[in-house]
This record gives sequence, C-alpha cells and structure tokens, in this order.
Amino acid sequence: MADIILGIESSCDDTSAAVIRDGWLLSNVIAGQDVHKAYGGVVPELASRAHEQNIVPVVSEALKRAGVEASELSAIAYTRGPGLLGSLLVGTSFAKALGLALDIPTVMVNHLQGHILADFVKQEGKENRQPSFPYLCLLVSGGNSQIVKVSSPLDFEILGQTIDDAVGEAFDKCSKMLGLGYPGGPVIDSLAKSGDPTRFSFAKPHIPGLDYSFSGIKTSLLYFTRDELAKDPDFIEKNKEDLCASFQKALIDILMDKLIKAARQTGIRQVTIGGGVSANSALRARIVEEGRKRGWTTYLPEFKFTTDNAAMIAVAGWFRYLAGERSPLDVAPVSRIADF
Ligand code: KG4
Repeated sequence: MADIILGIESSCDDTSAAVIRDGWLLSNVIAGQDVHKAYGGVVPELASRAHEQNIVPVVSEALKRAGVEASELSAIAYTRGPGLLGSLLVGTSFAKALGLALDIPTVMVNHLQGHILADFVKQEGKENRQPSFPYLCLLVSGGNSQIVKVSSPLDFEILGQTIDDAVGEAFDKCSKMLGLGYPGGPVIDSLAKSGDPTRFSFAKPHIPGLDYSFSGIKTSLLYFTRDELAKDPDFIEKNKEDLCASFQKALIDILMDKLIKAARQTGIRQVTIGGGVSANSALRARIVEEGRKRGWTTYLPEFKFTTDNAAMIAVAGWFRYLAGERSPLDVAPVSRIADF
C-alpha cells in the first residue's frame, strides 16, 4: 500500500501543508504573512497568530488539491524546530491533534533536515535528479549557515557552521544599512545584477576549520558606508548596485572557500545547496561553475523549495516513517538546533 504523508511546516512566517504519496508530490500549499513587512523583520507574536488563522484552511486546501481524504493519510510529518517557538507550537499541536483524531502516527522533523532533503521531493513531469549518498549540503538561510555531510536520509553530520550571524542575516542587515528593505536577499540579488562585484572589497574573516563568521563583514560594510557618507551624503544612492554586487560576492567567496575545503577534505563530490539563500542567482551560478571545475555533481533546488515549505518536511518525515520512527504525543517544539 502506498504511504500518503501530510507535511506541516510553521517554523517561521510561512504556514505550509503538503501531501506526498511514496515521495511524489501531490500538493504543496504555502500561506505567507505580509503583516511583518511594515516592521522590517518577522514579529514572533504576529507570526504565531497568523499561523493559528492559516493552519486549518492551508491543511484543508492541501488535502483538496492532492485529491486525498484525511482518512487516507498514513502519517503526519511536522516541523518540531528549530524556529520561533510560538509559530512551532501551532504546527506541532495541530499535527498531534489531527494524528490523534485520525488515529495515525505523527513524525517530527528537524526543519533544517527538511531543507537538506528537498531534492528528494519527486514531481510529475520533472527530471527529479537526486544526489547519491554521501553528499555535502551547503545549508544557507536566515537562521543558519552550515556545511552538512549527509550519509543517508537519517544520518547528518555538521562539518562546519557559523559561529555568529547566518549568511541570510548578513544579506538582510546589509539591505537595512543601504535602506533597501526586508527581506534583503532578493533585493540585493537583483540590484547586484547590474553592479560591479570587484569595485569594493570588505574584510574577510579568518576562522579555522570549516566554520563560518559573518558578523565582521557586516561591520566592515557599516564602517565603510559611514565613512563614505560623511564625504558624500548620496554615496549609497549613487553606488548601490556596486555595493550590492561587491558585498554579495564577498559573502559568496566566504561560503565557497569553506565548501571547497570540505569537499577536498572529505573527497565527496556530490554537492547540494538548500535554505532561503540558495535562491541567490550568483551563488547558484558560482556553485555550478566551481563544480564544473572540480568534477562535482551539483544539485540546485527549485526556487519554490528554497523557501520554507511543507513538501520538504513531508519527504523528510516519510524517510523517518519508513525507518519505523513514530513520535510520542509529549514531544514539545524546540527553538534552537542545539536542543535537537
Ligand atoms: O530559509 P529561509 O526562508 O528562512 C529563514 O531561515 O528565516 O531564509 C530566509 C533568508 C533571508 O535572510 C533572505 O534574505 C534570504 O533567505 N534570501 C536570499 C534570497 N532570497 C531569500 N538571500 C540571497 N539571495 C536571494 N535571492
């Protein structure tokens, strides 16, 4: 009999539900939250209230689009964390209550592992290229920057990670400094396309091993723009394309240096990327280019799977379900990765 899994994702500001049958995507519904735009960042309390309003219609719509009755579900996979606790509470509580009502098991999923396994969501009419194990995943989002060695859908080893800010945060903070709004990544990505990436340079961190640091480069941009603005109040306006292109290139250089080092150290040549920042066009191009030079096989997620979505949670949960994992009802959401 086929496994039909309902995935539920509510770790930040997207309420999402998806249905997969034996790994094939039947539906993936995402409700975003515009309410945060006015505040320049996600407001946790507003996010949980919006999840509470969205969760029932989003799950109903996912089942409807999949053409699946709730009674046909084999299990429910849900994001346990990391993320905003109030947001996670909505998804986890809903998943557990629905599982109880339908008398089917629930399986908790680490949100980051969902991003890492996004390539395993199979879609009708698509190429469905999937990495073979072991592979390296560069996981880059608003909350994390990691290089993960993936030996199986259940076996993850973090080889390196940021010791301070995440790379997505660096994009967002740069955007704020340049007065470009939130979220910063997409705006910087787009302005950088018409800028000169070699015009300005920023201090690079010297962190041992495979770990990252992005707080210094952010400060470097802050001081640089402050000094230039003192000389010319229109400096940012006149140079924003070049500033974006140069800052973006500096971030990508940092990411790639350690990824190349990790591939060299492990001898692994299957490389994927995941998380919100994996939507960045220059990063995507660079990974393909470096991969071509170094004999890697590279995998880029479809844009719709770079941001938070329940399809990746459903597929990560399905692997756990197949392995016999079932989560008890007293599982509580966790906000930090260290608590997983
Ligand atoms: O994974 P994600 O959706 O959620 C969080 O971790 O919160 O990642 C969001 C991050 C934000 O920092 C956003 O600026 C960044 O991903 N992002 C991008 C792009 N699109 C989104 N960064 C660079 N280039 C992009 N095109």
